[in-house]
Amino acid sequence: MKTCALLLLSAATLSTGPVQAGETDAGRDVFTRRCVGCHQLPEPDALTPAQWATVLQTMQKRMRQFGMTELNEAEFAAVLAYLSAPAAHAP
Ligand code: HEC
Repeated sequence: MKTCALLLLSAATLSTGPVQAGETDAGRDVFTRRCVGCHQLPEPDALTPAQWATVLQTMQKRMRQFGMTELNEAEFAAVLAYLSAPAAHAP
């Protein structure tokens, strides 16, 4: 019984890992999963935050045209946050 409770506890602790990693990690995840397929991943430093906002709108349109699922609001916000935060770009 005691062992079982400990296992559950450690599993719960582990599962909070990615959540605590923050918004830019979520954004990087969406970026690397959803911004490939049509072209290579662009360089996050290539554009300003304002330019990224415009480009992301354009990519939404392109995904729609290609019959792909667009980013939902949370994914869009996470990717934009990631691309707009220079500190997050370090490998
Ligand atoms: C449905 C296919 C598709 C997906 C998915 C896609 N793009 Fe694009 N993207 C294109 C096309 C088509 C172009 C223009 C031609 C090219 O550069 O290959 C382009 C061009 C770009 C450019 C160059 C600037 C421009 O507007 O031409 C950037 C930057 C870019 N994409 C970023 C992204 C990001 C960030 C994502 C993820 C949110 C993404 N793309 C996902 C199709 C896509």
